Amino acid sequence: MHFRRRILQPRLLPPLSQVLFIQPSRSYASSTFLLSPFLPFSRPSPKHYIKIFIASGFLLSTSLILYENSENRRIDKAVRKGTLPELDISSDKYYPRPQVLEQLKKIFTPQKNSRPYYIIYGKHGIGKSTSIKMALKEVGQGVIYVDIPLDTNDFGKSFAKAMNITVSDLTGYNKNEPWKVALNAFERAAKDYKAKYGRPLVIIYDNVDRLIHKNTQILDILQSSVTECDIKKNYIAVFVGSEYLFPQRMSSHGYWTDLDYFEIGDLTENESIDYLSTKKNIKVAEANKIYELTGGCIEDLEIAADDLISGQSIEDIKQRIKMDVEHKFRDAKLFPNEKYYETGRNIINALLKSKELCLTELWKYSNYSDSDNEILSKSIFAYHPETHKITLQSKSIEYYIRENAKYYIE
Ligand SMILES: Nc1ncnc2c1ncn2[C@@H]1O[C@H](COP(=O)(O)OP(=O)(O)O)[C@@H](O)[C@H]1O
Ligand SMILES: [Mg+2]
Repeated sequence: MHFRRRILQPRLLPPLSQVLFIQPSRSYASSTFLLSPFLPFSRPSPKHYIKIFIASGFLLSTSLILYENSENRRIDKAVRKGTLPELDISSDKYYPRPQVLEQLKKIFTPQKNSRPYYIIYGKHGIGKSTSIKMALKEVGQGVIYVDIPLDTNDFGKSFAKAMNITVSDLTGYNKNEPWKVALNAFERAAKDYKAKYGRPLVIIYDNVDRLIHKNTQILDILQSSVTECDIKKNYIAVFVGSEYLFPQRMSSHGYWTDLDYFEIGDLTENESIDYLSTKKNIKVAEANKIYELTGGCIEDLEIAADDLISGQSIEDIKQRIKMDVEHKFRDAKLFPNEKYYETGRNIINALLKSKELCLTELWKYSNYSDSDNEILSKSIFAYHPETHKITLQSKSIEYYIRENAKYYIE
């Protein structure tokens, strides 16, 4: 009985002080510092409470700073806000293009049935980057805008910058090429974003042409990354460029069957005249003359308008345009007796008659073969990827051809 009673007797718990002293020795110093006010023999004084308060405040703020500055956290914050690239022109100089803007806003606002990839195409100077930046002012959240730099060695840097981080902050930097590290970080951010918000991130690669000649493998990897993530639709990639070779390369991959294109084209005649009069204060009669020389490419209009404003005559502008186009003809090897002269002349004449030709019809012209595609990479002809048609690139080209009719018109 006695024995039993002893067993059933509840064992007294050791005093708190003893429990604390049995803690592993390593944390002893800090735990006694923090908990000493609670020890039975040292009654907590207001001073102790203040110490605890300061210490916990310090710990809390340090961990908050570390958390806020962690790579993932910073990227996550950046992707939520979006890159919001700065516009290169002031809003009073910007000529509104509402239809282009609406289409871009749709592309940058992913819907359930959105395609995971897009190509925004249009000749150099047509206003792609400006329109994209303008659209991002309205729908830039969750959109990363990466400008591929002229020096592609700096691609990783600008990729990281687009995510509001420097490339040296990224995990894996030093072991891998910077752009790969940035892409991996973006892929992780896209996965987290999709899990958190249920919609894909959007990434825009502007100036993709800069990768097409020397760094095609980078473009291929950017492309396959989207397709790999496609199953989960973590992100949508928009590739922006001007060169004929770029959509050709992208559509050459088997898995990339149904590319969606949005081509940004010339301003209409009315828009061009309206742009020159409202934004450049040019009289309608002169605006008409400029349009007849340049066509509706906004950069060509802008340059001619600025020439006129700076005191040049329409005749001076004509001479300048002739020289510019002559450079392009030389570059495209279209001078008489040069490599593409015969082929080019035949295509030019066909285009003067019919305005546009199907790419698949080109073989008809002087045994045109794929090796002649170089001629399409120069700025004489414009390629329209959605329809596979080619046209003359601009009114300036047509003007030069007519001025040199004895060489180029049958
Ligand atoms: N909507 C616009 N209104 C006024 N100027 C424009 C507009 N779009 C483009 N520009 C001007 O035309 C030039 C080329 O535009 P940009 O967007 O760089 O063309 P792209 O990216 O197609 O090569 C720039 O100098 C820009 O300021
Ligand atoms: Mg651009």
